[in-house]
Amino acid sequence: MAPRICMVGSSNMDLIARVPRVPAPGETLIGSRFQTSFGGKGANQAVMAARLGAQVAVVTKLGRDVFGENTLANYHAQGIDTSAVFFDEQSSSGVALITVDENTGQNSIVIVPGANYTLTTADIQAASGVIQSADVIMAQIEIPIAITLEAFRVAKAGGKATTILNPAPAAPLPDELLRLTDIIVPNEIEAAMLTALPTGTLDEATAAARALQGWGIQMVVLTLGSRGALLVNGDEAPQYVRAQAVQAVDTTGAGDAFVGSFAYLLGSGFSPLAAVERAAAIATRSVLKPGAQPSFPTRDEVAEFLH
Ligand code: RIB
Repeated sequence: MAPRICMVGSSNMDLIARVPRVPAPGETLIGSRFQTSFGGKGANQAVMAARLGAQVAVVTKLGRDVFGENTLANYHAQGIDTSAVFFDEQSSSGVALITVDENTGQNSIVIVPGANYTLTTADIQAASGVIQSADVIMAQIEIPIAITLEAFRVAKAGGKATTILNPAPAAPLPDELLRLTDIIVPNEIEAAMLTALPTGTLDEATAAARALQGWGIQMVVLTLGSRGALLVNGDEAPQYVRAQAVQAVDTTGAGDAFVGSFAYLLGSGFSPLAAVERAAAIATRSVLKPGAQPSFPTRDEVAEFLH
């Protein structure tokens, strides 16, 4: 049975420029390529999980503009349940302005959340049926933290869902949200910010993951960019998964490819370690093409490189 995954979070339109380097303040730089694609950490994670075969529903809010209309159409095209997609009549849809360094594939992102920040607790209550019928709830914090918290409250009141929090972009988290989180998936920057500990070496990253567990979270999956990922589950020994070395074209959305794949794999019955290993391989694949969602492999492509 395909796992039922509910994503509560953001949808953006990504406006992406490939540039020779990050521009300096006051500088005008000529870029080499422009691309628009569907993005938002939430939307990306939902699409990744759906592409692998999950039954996905999204709880998200769009503006009444062309980006919002196209985003809704994109969710339909990916076979995603949009019964809990809301619209704000006053705000623009979320937008991300992204520059990608054409030499390294590294990105810089400015987000204008727009309608994403107008999701309300009433919206979450209205979506409670969708949330409580899911096996896995996937959330980030590109929407107000209070709304993510409300979604986890509703999920836990339903009594069956595993909650996965990707604390991105980095921000302090309320204690109650941590208590309601079963699995946290920060990157090294977010883990360092949350714990005020360094994450530069594996030992440091392990100590930061243990500190996150100290807040009552059972499982920590710390993503380490091109280095791979670290799994710290309960009191088991930490497991380090090394990523395959590749020449990145565009790292945008790699973390989302990881989270969406991990949620799908865990919900499909893979062990946490197998889910991390496979999600890391899928995320690595995603950096070989430009954009976030356009770079995510399909189920058939994944079957070719993962057996
Ligand atoms: O994680 C990548 C995503 O971050 C982009 O798609 C952009 O929309 C921002 O939300």
